[in-house]
Amino acid sequence: MSFRKEYLMSLAGKSKTESVKLCSTMKRIHILFATLPLFFISCMETNQTQTNQASEADVLIDEKVDSLLALMTIGEKVGQLNMYNGTWEFTGPVPANDNSQDKANMIKSGGVGAMINVLTAEGTRAAQRMAVENSRLGIPLLFGYDVIHGYKTMMPVPLAQAASWDPEVARSGSQVAALEASAAGVHWTFAPMVDVSRDARWGRIVEGAGEDPYLTSVMAKAWIDGYQGDDLSASHTIAACAKHYAAYGFAEAGRDYNTAEVSMSTLHNVILRPFKASSEAGVATFMNSFNDVNGIPATGSQYLLRDVLKGAWDYQGFVVSDWGSIKEMTVHGYSRDKKHAAQLALAAGSDMDMESKAYEEFTEELIAEGGSSMEHLDDAVRRILKLKFQLGLFDDPYKYCDTEREKQSMLTAENMAVARDAARKSMVLLKNQNDLLPLKKDIRSIAVIGQLAASKDTHLGNWRAQAIGDSGVSLLEGIKNAVSPQTTITYSEGYKLVQGERSFIKELDVIEGDRSGFRDAIALAKKSDVVLLAIGEDCFQSGEGRSQVDIGLKGTQQELLMKLLEVNENVVVVLSNGRPLAIPEVVTSAPAVLETWFLGSEAGNAIADVIFGDFSPEGKLPVSFSYHVGQEPFYYSQKSTGRPVPETGDYTHVVWSHYIDSPNEALFPFGFGLSYADFEYKKPKVSVAGAVVEISVNLTNVSDVEGTETVQVYIRDLYASEIQPIKRLVDFQKVKLAAGATQTIAFTLSEEDLGFYKSDGSFVTESGEFEIMIGGNSRDVTSETITVNF
Ligand code: NOJ
Repeated sequence: MSFRKEYLMSLAGKSKTESVKLCSTMKRIHILFATLPLFFISCMETNQTQTNQASEADVLIDEKVDSLLALMTIGEKVGQLNMYNGTWEFTGPVPANDNSQDKANMIKSGGVGAMINVLTAEGTRAAQRMAVENSRLGIPLLFGYDVIHGYKTMMPVPLAQAASWDPEVARSGSQVAALEASAAGVHWTFAPMVDVSRDARWGRIVEGAGEDPYLTSVMAKAWIDGYQGDDLSASHTIAACAKHYAAYGFAEAGRDYNTAEVSMSTLHNVILRPFKASSEAGVATFMNSFNDVNGIPATGSQYLLRDVLKGAWDYQGFVVSDWGSIKEMTVHGYSRDKKHAAQLALAAGSDMDMESKAYEEFTEELIAEGGSSMEHLDDAVRRILKLKFQLGLFDDPYKYCDTEREKQSMLTAENMAVARDAARKSMVLLKNQNDLLPLKKDIRSIAVIGQLAASKDTHLGNWRAQAIGDSGVSLLEGIKNAVSPQTTITYSEGYKLVQGERSFIKELDVIEGDRSGFRDAIALAKKSDVVLLAIGEDCFQSGEGRSQVDIGLKGTQQELLMKLLEVNENVVVVLSNGRPLAIPEVVTSAPAVLETWFLGSEAGNAIADVIFGDFSPEGKLPVSFSYHVGQEPFYYSQKSTGRPVPETGDYTHVVWSHYIDSPNEALFPFGFGLSYADFEYKKPKVSVAGAVVEISVNLTNVSDVEGTETVQVYIRDLYASEIQPIKRLVDFQKVKLAAGATQTIAFTLSEEDLGFYKSDGSFVTESGEFEIMIGGNSRDVTSETITVNF
């Protein structure tokens, strides 16, 4: 049977009306054999009845996918599972001196389904043409890229965005990122990272929403909504990817890629919750994590992928491996060799192979030998093709390749405004003794000190996609932009933190012991009204492969602070960092501390907005800050030991669970953050009707300035068949209150909020007593105990 005939029949079998329409269209038009399939499917897109119902649209897409699948050879199917890195400039000739020529040939033969790191409207068009115009079926490529917190316009890093506790910050930021990335030909971002992490040593804590599964779930949904919008086929939206599935943030000792040993309770109640939320939010794809979870590499985990994700959650998208994570299963000691790794990963449910080339090399052979099943291969291909249809690539494979749109979309005033607003909302005021902040704009003199203060680069953060180096607004620039003409701004570098090349792929050269700038900085501090001292971390101290055993300040930063305080008591510490820092001496000594993380393109202007009171800080910590690295992993939602330290009495008695050389508690607790306003909570009123808990609390702004508070609800299930944490965030609301105003804030908790996952993965609700706690952070709460009968 001819290919054309087979194609027509396969379609007729799936959808009679459509194929009749299509056949008549076909009769009228002569088309090249090579472009037939693509054209055909495109006709189906335009001829079908428009529907707003996702399920109907899905069914139609499934039919198209099946039709196409029926025509594919095993080789073509395996091709869809391959993701290649774009190692050459696609708009020029393919270089012959590396494996680019082989890759180009593979693309042309239909042996590649997706590419990573191929960019620009022109570049992606050229690469797409290779696939669409040369391969037998003309199946378009999918272009993926790490668009983590912006493409050209940088938003605050994800951890900072989470500090806003404002889903709109996450949504609008990723919407802008999608707008810019899609204009540069990108279809798919490897974000959001929804790994909960409770270990400040882990460098990638900066890429997620922190330590709490509920906050991470809320932000995850917002990030996904921002990237994907409500129509994946729109040319300004891109597919998202929930990563790294799973337990990557629980790397032992905070060392990146390390083993994760987690209980089933922690897996289900903490680690998997944001992934489940992402699946429910309709995230298009998932990415495996590199690590093993309790002895099984996540990439080869039947339990995680087939049983939980594709089984219990009925997830319909596809799973991409992390870079090389299939072949790394052999290094882990799980697979015998790469072929065995390919077999295990496909069987487990990893659908696409990012740069292991394991599926490419072995899947056909494995199927022929009966080592891999055709059913698994077809399932993986179906999922990948489905996304290509959803993105509209069969309709127009070049729809994201518009050079004019690309030119107009980047770094626009609108995008910058979103970045500045997000940055303002992401800062956390940690200390403000005697209301040192906000400063007056006509203050006589300010000394801005620190290498980080003049950096136009560090606030762009790690994982900065196509941000232009040194393009951010520095703290120094932001301050200069904001002050009155009478104000004198002076700058001194003070300390040197880093030197040499700083980049994603290079180890950072951190300087220890440099005091050459001290004298100048101290002299400026002495003659200024206020000192703004920028200290913390360079942005390349956190991110992938950037774990640290020391989570304090590197170099001479702290020493300089102490010297400055000797000559000027008004030192405002402006912190930038990608992880919680253990800095008790800084916090005790400095009168004001503002946490700014890495705030993106508009950092300096946004910091000035807060420093001069144009914007009252409203961020809250998405991670606890410990006193000492020895407390890590450190988090608020701990379980009670049988010997907790009593609230009153002898704190240091040897029989209590404590350290003899460090406090137990947080330097700053999860959820903590000050405002220029002050808020007072009344005791909450809590009522129970069946299994529904109604809570209301009166919140008063007791200051004379407007401010925004984040009201947080925590619960404790006081006794349960498996011990529950002493506190668990279940809801929150941001409330803006005018000076002196009072508002009643109401919350409703459902069975889902009160229940928990047991170690066997089942979700249960158990009748009994619950403590309901409300407050402005996880430590300072007012509470009420209730009994709930399910
Ligand atoms: C490895 C990282 O773990 C992952 O987060 C990223 O998306 C891929 N590399 C692709 O760059």
